[in-house]
Amino acid sequence: MRRDPLHLLVSLARQKGDCFVYLPGKQQSFLVNRPEYVRQVLVERTETYSKETPANVGFGAHVADGLLTSEGEAWRAQRKLMRPVFAQRNVPAFTDVVSDVVGQTVRAWERAADDGKEINLSAEVSQLLFRITVIGLFRVDPADWGTRPTELLAAALPYVGRRHSHPTIRAARSVIRELADSVIAQHRERGGDPDDLLSRLIASGGPEADPVAIRDHVVTLALAGYTTTASVVGWACYMLATQPDVAEQVRAELASVAPDRPLTVGDLPAVPYLTAVIKETMRLYPPAWIIGRRALRSDRIGDMDIPPDSVVAISPYVLHRHPTYWPEPEVFEPRRFLDEEGERTRKPYSYIPFGAGPRSCIGANFALAEAPLIVGLLVQRYRMTLPNDVHVRPYGIFVLTPRPPIRASLTSIQRD
Ligand code: HEM
Repeated sequence: MRRDPLHLLVSLARQKGDCFVYLPGKQQSFLVNRPEYVRQVLVERTETYSKETPANVGFGAHVADGLLTSEGEAWRAQRKLMRPVFAQRNVPAFTDVVSDVVGQTVRAWERAADDGKEINLSAEVSQLLFRITVIGLFRVDPADWGTRPTELLAAALPYVGRRHSHPTIRAARSVIRELADSVIAQHRERGGDPDDLLSRLIASGGPEADPVAIRDHVVTLALAGYTTTASVVGWACYMLATQPDVAEQVRAELASVAPDRPLTVGDLPAVPYLTAVIKETMRLYPPAWIIGRRALRSDRIGDMDIPPDSVVAISPYVLHRHPTYWPEPEVFEPRRFLDEEGERTRKPYSYIPFGAGPRSCIGANFALAEAPLIVGLLVQRYRMTLPNDVHVRPYGIFVLTPRPPIRASLTSIQRD
């Protein structure tokens, strides 16, 4: 299971149907793979299903105990405190950071493009998203820390969510905690905007204002924010590099809206094909490839009895390839998300890159603006090609991760 869980879960779903045991044992793990069951577990019976799975408990104990892992009253209070920060009205301030940081990054890539050198696109995109996320959320630039935090985190991600800690987790955790402490100290010195995330946590005065709790929130949000968006941006670049006709359609759309200037967030409604490319990337390569819950009491899903204490998992990766809901599920076809009829008739809960129900992603508004904007800015600037002898595959570790890392050559696009 640990070696290639994605492949295994997809083939088990083909053989065993929409609800089956994929890990037997004292604490059985079920996979449920039907929109009605997704609704039952994530939306309707939230009192029956908790987030206290072994993976989440491991994350809370060894990485950070924040909004991703909290439960009950503590979660409700945290979500209420943080919700306004992620509202649609705050997207433009966040995406200003995107435009700045992408601008700096593409200038830094210029040299590799001129010399015809390959870049490690996965590592570069992780670094880019880490900077954007930390500046966007906390107004502190982590550039002085160099690539160390993202390198340590990349090494630690395969071990995140295991029951026991691991030396690579401890190494990454100590650096990311140091960084979080420095972010908090700089915020205290500078005094932020009263409505920003840290000011709201500090002003709440309750348990969320405790220094360890604040540090855990910073670590949780930085990690949840950058690993997922880096995953989708990396996979979208990969799809565009392997499907040059799709890349050319995106480029033509961008040229009709912003022929002689970088794309902005205000342009996004006018470039629906670009947004469809991101949505289709998240269908085939959903960053959060598995969502787990623990049954607190017995339940029945379809014709299966779910005993108390079982793990019930939903895999957007498997669900998004379900042939009942997705014709030609393995084909990358962004037009699925352009076609009004397709959008209107899509079965609710068959497409869940951001989860569903009360625990769905708090950062979805930001991600849905950030990812197309970044990919659009990169497409405007470069044509990407991949080395032809390397086969990249998705691995389900903390987020869906390409292995080996994606490498690409860049060709600059001259603007007239
Ligand atoms: C493409 C990008 C993203 C994807 C695909 C994604 C996906 C998800 C999913 C599926 C969940 C639900 C997990 C569950 O039900 O157990 C979730 C929760 C969460 N996400 Fe995201 N996410 C993304 C971006 C972000 C960003 C940008 C942030 C913050 C800056 C963020 C912060 C969080 C947090 C804090 C939670 C926990 C919410 C709660 O339990 O109340 N995510 N995300």
